[in-house]
Amino acid sequence: DIKGVAFDMDGVIADTAKFHTMAWRQLAESLGVTWNPELQENLKGIGRMDSLNMILEAGDIVDKYSDAQKEALATSKNDAYKELIATLTPDDNLPGMKNFLDELQENGYQMSVASASKNAPFILERLGLTSYFVGIVDPASLHAGKPDPEIFARAAEILDLDPQYVMGLEDSEAGIQSIRGANELAIGIGVTGDVTLASTQEVSLAAIKAQV
Ligand code: G6P
Ligand code: MG
Repeated sequence: DIKGVAFDMDGVIADTAKFHTMAWRQLAESLGVTWNPELQENLKGIGRMDSLNMILEAGDIVDKYSDAQKEALATSKNDAYKELIATLTPDDNLPGMKNFLDELQENGYQMSVASASKNAPFILERLGLTSYFVGIVDPASLHAGKPDPEIFARAAEILDLDPQYVMGLEDSEAGIQSIRGANELAIGIGVTGDVTLASTQEVSLAAIKAQV
């Protein structure tokens, strides 16, 4: 029986995937890299430096930049992104998620956050959601990001639960792989999981149980 829930944040709790896309796209195009929907999808769930490398590889210019230059490019993306998330308010929860967090809390589930984003604590504060979670995995402490299972394994440890009692919610292919690798139940939102839901609006305990 599931007792705990590990949440991805961008595109699952917070309507911030669009801001990552805007900031990365602007940087990519300024470097002459053509944006495309597949690149946009593949960037979901991927940490900051790995995302930059994926963009540079898409433009076949990954060898053009030194590590220091890459650091500067990633910082400029993050500066643009931080301006966008500074505008977030509690209205920027994705539809249905506040109700789902309340439903989980009322039913005694433990919750943690498994986001690759170093901005996750700030965003959860802006949305007024921090108190729902036992803890947030610090992505800076990981050896490998999604699709590696480490982040979702850590999210279960924070809950003091074995993975078999934990389900993970994700909107990215890399995140679904991470959840499955950690031997947790994968709930895909707009992406195929063990349970698949079209959008956050469909998420409820009943909708999940109907597919398990
Ligand atoms: C999440 C998002 C990615 C983002 C990554 C790192 O996984 O889905 O789009 O690149 O976090 O976010 P950060 O805020 O640390 O740059
Ligand atoms: Mg996501």
